[in-house]
Amino acid sequence: MKTLTLAVAMATTILFTSGAAQAESAADLNDLQIAHVAYTADNIDIRYAYLALAISQNPDIHQFARTMIRDHTAVNEQALALLQKLKADPQDNFLSKALTKDSNVLIDEMSKLRGNAFDRRYAGNELAYHKAVNNLVENTFIPNIDNVEVKVLFEAGLKIFKIHEGHAAMMVKKISK
Ligand SMILES: [Fe+2]
Repeated sequence: MKTLTLAVAMATTILFTSGAAQAESAADLNDLQIAHVAYTADNIDIRYAYLALAISQNPDIHQFARTMIRDHTAVNEQALALLQKLKADPQDNFLSKALTKDSNVLIDEMSKLRGNAFDRRYAGNELAYHKAVNNLVENTFIPNIDNVEVKVLFEAGLKIFKIHEGHAAMMVKKISK
């Protein structure tokens, strides 16, 4: 549960040093890199959701997972449409790579869990993941986005993802009973 939260927290607060001795932080990403991180983060949550549909037997988990697939797919489609309109391509970057790497580790770990152990891990991670990504979007990305249309899209997305965070918190409570 802590892995992704940590990765995002580290990426936002600690300066990353690449081979070229180039410092990078989330606050330095340009709009196209930010778009890439968001697209990646959306797809990661969609992957977790498909895993939940495949493993969990809990109807609440299934409903939540279907909502994640629906909403994150919709946001990604809007993002791609906007980038197409702007004739721009999202740019891969250190943060997208870190998120993907961490999610692969977590998918691997969660794939081995069954029953309540899986449900708890999935719900707990959804809460931690949405918290971490929402914090990044609200406090680092939105204040740094230059393009007005991109900013509007992120503000709309954040509203939806805060609702997800609330649902995840309720799910965690319900499962731990
Ligand atoms: Fe979500």
